[in-house]
Amino acid sequence: MAKILVLGSGGREHALIWSLARENRHTLMCAPGNAGTAGQARNVALDLADHGAVAGFIEQESIDLTIVGPEDPLAAGIVDHLEAEGLRVFGPTQAGARLESSKLFARDFMKAMGIPHPDYRSCSSKEEVGAAVRDMGLPIVLKADGLAAGKGVIICRNEADVAAALEKYFDQKAFGDAGLALSVEECLVGTEMSVFAFSDGRRFTVLGTAQDYKRAYDGDQGPNTGGMGSIAPSPLATPELMEEIGDTILQPAISGMAQKGHPYVGVLYAGLMISDGRPAVIEFNVRMGDPESQVVLPLLDTPLSELVEQALAGQLPDKPVIRPGAAVCVVVASEGYPGSYEKGKPITGLEGLDGDMIIYHAGTSLDESGRLVSSGGRVLNVVGTGATIPDAARKVYENIPRIDFPGSFYRKDIGG
Ligand code: AMP
Ligand code: GLY
Repeated sequence: MAKILVLGSGGREHALIWSLARENRHTLMCAPGNAGTAGQARNVALDLADHGAVAGFIEQESIDLTIVGPEDPLAAGIVDHLEAEGLRVFGPTQAGARLESSKLFARDFMKAMGIPHPDYRSCSSKEEVGAAVRDMGLPIVLKADGLAAGKGVIICRNEADVAAALEKYFDQKAFGDAGLALSVEECLVGTEMSVFAFSDGRRFTVLGTAQDYKRAYDGDQGPNTGGMGSIAPSPLATPELMEEIGDTILQPAISGMAQKGHPYVGVLYAGLMISDGRPAVIEFNVRMGDPESQVVLPLLDTPLSELVEQALAGQLPDKPVIRPGAAVCVVVASEGYPGSYEKGKPITGLEGLDGDMIIYHAGTSLDESGRLVSSGGRVLNVVGTGATIPDAARKVYENIPRIDFPGSFYRKDIGG
């Protein structure tokens, strides 16, 4: 029995709350949360950028454990602030969060630790990028050094793409200061896979693997989004590959951060490209994925709070208990997303879904009369589980049409 606070407001945070609620022994709070987390936790209107206010609330409510969902507060040092106040919090310090908040720090770190990664150059002017492109050849990947909500990467296939990208980073300053330094990278080819591990500062345990679907429309067409769906486990995750990923990527990253004097405690999410069966790191993230948490967590049978406590105590087990079978998540989004869209559309029919379906809320709220309405681009995450990915996908696609949400769309090919 503990009082646990989850920070964040998306589908990932609802998935964290849902897993903690399943343990049936905690008092849960979510800040700021959404209409879904309100079903299992008390939502608290806190500004996550105001670390003093968050600390004050934790002290006032005698909260035992705080779990940080998104990257922004981690990069801003919320863990350092709360720890300095003597509070128990799960997530890396600001120094650890650099693995995600600075793509160039992360690349230099991978190089120093011998972690497989694409060839790259650090560039901070159009001239430097031009020279790197001439040197490395096309296609090439340009990546904003700082946080850009997953949108700072531009893949350039020809000179015209490079010119347009340079205008975006340096003239329009579309990513602000985050895009004034770039990692110019070899374009990896292969299949992507995400690995989610907890680190206790010395070693890791893998919670699961997943694949997400970043493009807006079927067949991987349309603009990049925060993620339109996900499947778990990744079909690529053989025991041999997982062992190689542990030995050449996860353990060297954790040992390397400890060597640098910044022991890393928290989620280590490795975004990987698997080419000819060999992994290379596309990026490290320092928090759970969204919408990958929504498929990884339902398959995790070890109580989530137990793993968090073990990570904080420096005593993670080798392996948690992961249920056999698969999970599929389809994101129901507002028409227009990832561009502009309307909010406040009523959502009904959720009670008509099969009993074993999981609905995580991502962008929902309750209006003045208590009706469930949309309040974001990605609105609902419909999750099914089954013996195989096609089984789980079939359940999701049988159930989604029962949801009445005008002006919504979703991909029809997740898990297909
Ligand atoms: P990131 O924000 O680093 O996850 O990048 C977004 C997406 O861009 C990734 O999921 C990949 O699809 C792609 N990407 C990023 N870096 C590379 C790279 N070096 N080679 C190929 N694709 C990449
Ligand atoms: N789904 C990708 C991410 O969470 O970064």
